[in-house]
Amino acid sequence: MSALNLVEQSKRSAAFAAVDKHVGPSVRVLGVGSGSTVVYAAERLAELKQQNKLHPDLLCVPTSFQSKQLIVDSGLRACDLDDLPELDPSAPGSFASIDVTIDGADEVDSELNAIKGGGGAHLREKLVAAASRRLVLVADYRKNSDVLGEKWTQGVPVEVSPLAWRTIKRQLERLGPRSRAQGAVPTDAAAVAAFELAHPVASLRQAVRKAGPVVTDNGNFILDVCMGKIYDPPAVELLLKMVPGVIEVGIFSAMAAEAWFGNEDGSIACRI
Ligand code: 5RP
Repeated sequence: MSALNLVEQSKRSAAFAAVDKHVGPSVRVLGVGSGSTVVYAAERLAELKQQNKLHPDLLCVPTSFQSKQLIVDSGLRACDLDDLPELDPSAPGSFASIDVTIDGADEVDSELNAIKGGGGAHLREKLVAAASRRLVLVADYRKNSDVLGEKWTQGVPVEVSPLAWRTIKRQLERLGPRSRAQGAVPTDAAAVAAFELAHPVASLRQAVRKAGPVVTDNGNFILDVCMGKIYDPPAVELLLKMVPGVIEVGIFSAMAAEAWFGNEDGSIACRI
C-alpha cells in the first residue's frame, strides 16, 4: 500500500469508528466538522442514513461551506447554529444544543488539546464545539502527539481582521520571550506561557500559486503563527486571543472529550 493510501485509510478507519460509536438513533443534533477526514465521517453518515440507523429528524450543524456540502450530499438536513431550537434552560446540559460534534484536527496532544484550522474553518468549528455536549476528534496517526507544535510545524492558525493584518502580525510576533521584558504580557499564566515560546513568526496564508491571501468563509485572513512547542495551550490560546484584531485562534484547549486515530498498522486508538 502506498504512503498516501495508508494515511487515507487511517483517516477513514478513525472517522468510521467515531461515527459508529457516537451517532445513532438517539442523536438529534450533530455538529459536522471540516477537512479531509470528516469526508469519511460523512460517507459513514450517508450509509447509516440509507440503513435507517439515524434519528429520522436528525439536524446537522455545519462548520464551513465544505461541511454544509458534505451534509447535503449525504442526504442529511443542515441547520445553522443560531437556528437550533432553544433548550429548556433548567434541563441538564442545556448550555449545549448539539448532542455531539465529529471534527478533524491538525494535532492532538496527550491532554486532548488540539490545533485546528489547517483548512481555515476554526472560527465556526470552535463555535460549534463550544455548543456541543461532546466534541470527538478524528485524525490519522501523523496528528497524534505529546505536545502541541511537536508534529504540526506549520504554525497555529489565527483568523484576523483584514483591516490591519500587518499590525496584528507585528503584535503577534512581539509575544514570546521579548514580551516579558517589555511588560506587555497580560496575566501571570500568559507570561509564563510566553516565556516558554520560541519567538513567534506569523505568515499570511496565501492561496495556491500566491494568487493572494486565503479569505475565510467569514471574509477574514489567516496568519499561521509558528512558535515552537506549546507547553501550556490554554495560556497561549488566551495570549494570542488578547491581541486586538484576532478573531479566533486555532488552539482548542480542553474542548475535546475524545480523539480517534487511525494507526499505521491498521489499528485504531481512542484517547479519552
Ligand atoms: C479545518 C480543520 C480540519 O479539521 C483540520 O485541518 C484537519 O483536516 P484534515 O482532516 O484534512 O487533516 O481544522 O479548519
